[in-house]
Amino acid sequence: MTTAALSQEQDQLASLLAEARARTLLLVEPLSDEELRMQHDPLMSPILWDIGHIAHFEMLWLVENTQGPVQFSEMPGMYNPFENPRAVRDKLKLMQLPELLKFMEQVRARVLERIADVDLHGDDPLLRDGYVYRMVAQHEYQHNETILQTLQLKRGEPYHPAPRIAVPEATIRSAGMVHFPGGEVPIGTDDRSAAYDNERPRHTVHLDPFWIDAAPVSNAEYLEFMHAGGYTTRELWSDAGWAWLREARVDAPKYWDTEGGGWRTRSMDRIGPVDPHHPVCHVCYHEAEAYARWVEKRLPTEQEWEAASTWNPETGTRSEFPWGNETPTPEHANLDQLTWGTAPIGAYPRNVSPLGCYGMIGDVWEWTRSDFRPYPGYQTFPYREYSEVFFGTEYKVLRGGSWATRPGAIRSSFRNWDYPIRRQIFSGFRCARDG
Ligand code: AVJ
Ligand code: FE
Repeated sequence: MTTAALSQEQDQLASLLAEARARTLLLVEPLSDEELRMQHDPLMSPILWDIGHIAHFEMLWLVENTQGPVQFSEMPGMYNPFENPRAVRDKLKLMQLPELLKFMEQVRARVLERIADVDLHGDDPLLRDGYVYRMVAQHEYQHNETILQTLQLKRGEPYHPAPRIAVPEATIRSAGMVHFPGGEVPIGTDDRSAAYDNERPRHTVHLDPFWIDAAPVSNAEYLEFMHAGGYTTRELWSDAGWAWLREARVDAPKYWDTEGGGWRTRSMDRIGPVDPHHPVCHVCYHEAEAYARWVEKRLPTEQEWEAASTWNPETGTRSEFPWGNETPTPEHANLDQLTWGTAPIGAYPRNVSPLGCYGMIGDVWEWTRSDFRPYPGYQTFPYREYSEVFFGTEYKVLRGGSWATRPGAIRSSFRNWDYPIRRQIFSGFRCARDG
């Protein structure tokens, strides 16, 4: 092996990739061949596809595109997400897991051979500071979360996670709203070591004063909306939201049911009464918007969300996370998958922004009212298919990550996006108001 010849930096990048892979393998380890191959839901890929796609993406970016000019930005063939939409991926001749694992190892061996020769301090922005390696690691993290959505949708026997980490008890009962004074606020980042193109460039926006919920909307609060007839009151819903509701015919968040009396919910293999103190999860944008209207509030814009998460109006300073610039650990937030569900609101006392917003990182992705659009001065890097092809009015931005997000794939500037009707994602929300 060439690993002995690696510099400390190269070695750290190799470890980053190794750790990402160890987690992917841990997640899929309990699954049978059949469970890996089948399509559990038309919204999702067979898990074998995600695994193959992770390896192909790594091959493309860390082998092919690190030797000479960038060839493709999405590889042609079986694992190209645009050629093969999710709903048809079970028709593909996917490799069996053992074959696939061998392929993954072969790719990784070539990556490690290559990494010894790359210049991490030259002019190529793809390689500089190891950007492309962090991009590939984040790609694997993101597909881990996709796999978790699939596992939660899984047909047949529920998924039984191997390791499970307990979440802390709530020590804070934060309620109410906090006030942002408005003004000129920096949004986004100029970081080129890890951030995606859609997070750049850093730019200043003017925000009018606003109020924002100090915590995400809880199950208890959402139940009040349900009991007040939220799902049957036309005026609370937009036209698109009402059309979705009539089609979807739901009256509660996804994964909730009333078997045995009161509301219960399921997170993987754990079924129990809906916990009033947890944030509501598995609601779509339309439900979030209807709830907000019911409490005479609105959803925040993504800029308001980011300001509430990063900006200290008293000192005029910004941080990468609500608590500062330290990368998240299990003491900071409910991230990194192994809790297998949400935590009580306020269970992470460090997870608070200077403004006083709790739980902005982890637990549930938070819907914002913003369409997924490029920031002023946006430049595609390194490929159009990550962000650019999705810009427009079809998608809404979500912020903050969920319990199923790996820490390396979240920061306060990170922008996720999805269709406003989606609720298999680990999504909740908090509300805002002018003033
Ligand atoms: C950023 C989560 C919307 O899953 O479609 C994975 C991430 N991009 N492979 C997605 C992504 C390419 C993306 N999201
Ligand atoms: Fe992908």
